[in-house]
Amino acid sequence: MRPSPPPRTFRVKSFGCQMNVYDGERMAEMLAQQGISPAPEGEEADLVVLNTCHIREKAAEKVYSDIGRIVKDARREDGTAPLIAVAGCVAQAEGEEIMTRAPAVSMVVGPQAYHRLPGMIADAVEGRRSVDTDMPAETKFDALPARRKVGPSAFLTVQEGCDKFCTYCVVPYTRGAEISRPFSDLVSEAQRLVDAGAREITLLGQNVNAWRDGDGRGLERLIEALAAIPALARIRYTTSHPNDMTDGLIAAHRDVEKLMPFLHLPVQAGNDRVLKAMNRSHTVASYLRVLDQVRAARPDIALSGDFIVGFPGETDAEFEDTLRLVEQVGYAQCFSFKYSPRPGTPAAAMDRQIPMAVMDERLKRLQDALNGTQLAFNRASVGQRCAVLVERQGKQDGQWLGKSPWLQSVHFTGSAAIGDLIEVELTQAGPNSLAGRPV
Ligand code: SAH
Ligand code: SF4
Ligand code: F3S
Repeated sequence: MRPSPPPRTFRVKSFGCQMNVYDGERMAEMLAQQGISPAPEGEEADLVVLNTCHIREKAAEKVYSDIGRIVKDARREDGTAPLIAVAGCVAQAEGEEIMTRAPAVSMVVGPQAYHRLPGMIADAVEGRRSVDTDMPAETKFDALPARRKVGPSAFLTVQEGCDKFCTYCVVPYTRGAEISRPFSDLVSEAQRLVDAGAREITLLGQNVNAWRDGDGRGLERLIEALAAIPALARIRYTTSHPNDMTDGLIAAHRDVEKLMPFLHLPVQAGNDRVLKAMNRSHTVASYLRVLDQVRAARPDIALSGDFIVGFPGETDAEFEDTLRLVEQVGYAQCFSFKYSPRPGTPAAAMDRQIPMAVMDERLKRLQDALNGTQLAFNRASVGQRCAVLVERQGKQDGQWLGKSPWLQSVHFTGSAAIGDLIEVELTQAGPNSLAGRPV
């Protein structure tokens, strides 16, 4: 690599889950602290950080097409090119391979090492390429600058990594073992987010409900502490594992008013043989028991989940079990995916991989079923009164968009400002949003 002038502007592009969004924000803050500014909209940046996702094949391949596009767009007259850093889960999984496959990339940095990016940028300026996929003992959280201005709804990563090793999943390899950030760090970061404008905080983790305090207490302790911050109106958390839904956390849904009535609890499949092959370590019945307990604590809770269709060996009858579960639970919203074999995971080597055409058909049937339960949930909300947290302006004059307590998108017309909680009556329901009238 040739030496290049120090970057003056940057752009961070995040793919994948909300934890990557959070990491992307923190990288941006760190770069700003280094004196590099965000590139103005529509202008090419001197430094591009691709914060990547490895969860499915399509997500991972995006990296290489993006690199190709950046290089092609940047035919500069002076012969310089933007510096490219690949961060996130593809960086962790493919490290050196990216260096070989994409000579335009000068930095590859894993999700637990990006606080070391400034040193890597200095190397890149001098023409040296570097790869850092360590999972260092000092954590990125300790090394990053304080939070700046944020919107009304902010993310806070409280837990990272996964020890569950579902047989299809790369996360335990890309994010490492489960770690919980310390209680006091989190309370002060939450306070800073609120000071910077957040009215709602979503606690994030690959298994957020596995968060434990030093003394062994669970996520409900953190939720209770954040609920005591007066200007914070709403608390959410995602993503949870069914086996980590403790009695204490379930009780928080009854006792903590600021904890919103929404639970994202992925089940992946509705058949016990498939769940076992996935190494989910729960059954359909144990999952449903957890949902019953949560509903007993918070009857109006909105439920959400993730599903995979076409896991190796999944029969038509086993897939039908998933459809039955969807109808039984009546999800308010869900994500569903075709199984994607990931290099190095046990499921990728299993017999009876399912043909793409079968997966396409199953996904369509599942999504039709999920759209049905979602519309039914939204319709059942019509007539209710609730607060909407205003997130942005709508297209029409005086129109505002925000979220209900059940995480539905709601639009209404009236006087409001971003960050307000406006009491509305829900008047009309569509599949993806509702209309409301201020009361
Ligand atoms: N820790 C979370 C989910 C992390 S990944 C949990 O266990 O719930 C988000 C979702 O991606 C998973 O819930 C799963 O539905 C999907 N997913 C993960 N690996 C996948 C793969 N190999 N193919 C298709 N979908 C996958
Ligand atoms: Fe992946 Fe399973 Fe861990 Fe979720 S619990 S991150 S699906 S291994
Ligand atoms: Fe993707 Fe990594 Fe998140 S693989 S889903 S960015 S943890």
